[in-house]
Amino acid sequence: MPATAAVNVPAIEYVNVGKSFGNVRALNHISLSIRQGEFVAIVGPSGCGKSTLLSIVAGIVLATDGYVRYMGNEVNGPNQRVGFVTQKDLLLPWRTVEDNIRFPLEVRGQQRDADRRVAEVIEQVGLSGFEKKYISQLSGGMRKRVGIARTLVYKPDVYLMDEPFGSLDAQLRTTMHTDVLRLWRDTGSTMVFVTHDLGEAVVLAERVIVMSGRPGTIKAEVPIEMDKSVFRDAVSIQTAPEFQHYLAKLWSLIKSDEETHA
Ligand SMILES: Nc1ncnc2c1ncn2[C@@H]1O[C@H](COP(=O)(O)OP(=O)(O)O)[C@@H](O)[C@H]1O
Ligand SMILES: [Mg+2]
Repeated sequence: MPATAAVNVPAIEYVNVGKSFGNVRALNHISLSIRQGEFVAIVGPSGCGKSTLLSIVAGIVLATDGYVRYMGNEVNGPNQRVGFVTQKDLLLPWRTVEDNIRFPLEVRGQQRDADRRVAEVIEQVGLSGFEKKYISQLSGGMRKRVGIARTLVYKPDVYLMDEPFGSLDAQLRTTMHTDVLRLWRDTGSTMVFVTHDLGEAVVLAERVIVMSGRPGTIKAEVPIEMDKSVFRDAVSIQTAPEFQHYLAKLWSLIKSDEETHA
């Protein structure tokens, strides 16, 4: 797969994707195109196939129907160009912070310049001074930063984030939101962020995809027309009137789904 693609090629394109796990129909008729550099959030009830949608892009799960194109190429197996960040980052407890962050470069055989790249990323996520610590010596927020740094280090084109901040307290989540928005702005990467927290979706994304209950289908798309760069941080985004407007809109969409499934 080429490392770069023409700018007009979508980063991700789902073409009529369906997925069954045995008798369980997880996804139905998913067609969705995500621009390079776009920030998209996917919301929907638990079990509607959000994680499966990301796993198909990463090539960990294969679609039963339809297909996914990644930077113009059909995904048929593990896709190492994506950065996958999940709620349970499987950090290696016997390695230090810097050695955890170096690990993906070792796996990929990208040893050249690894030390410099690791140092750069540690600085970028605010872990300077903690290079030699072991994972057990870190707070929850710092572990999260190691998880993100471990992905950042190999410069993925696309970040797939699956409820990455679900385990963090509200204050720390907000700090991480500010960081993710900065990361997105600085790298120009494509972000696909799965969450069941509607506020998180509005704070972060340029477009929110609302899914129905299982089998998951796309039920609505809500463009979030706010210039986030004028806000100092994620807290101030939440105080804007537009934030409340979009939050209410998403709530009403989700609520109408609950009523039809009740
Ligand atoms: N590997 C698997 N084997 C069997 N069933 C699965 C597997 N992965 C997911 N499922 C089922 O598919 C549905 C969608 O799962 P998932 O994508 O994890 O939903 P979400 O992330 O929206 O909560 C669920 O009913 C789940 O139990
Ligand atoms: Mg999930």
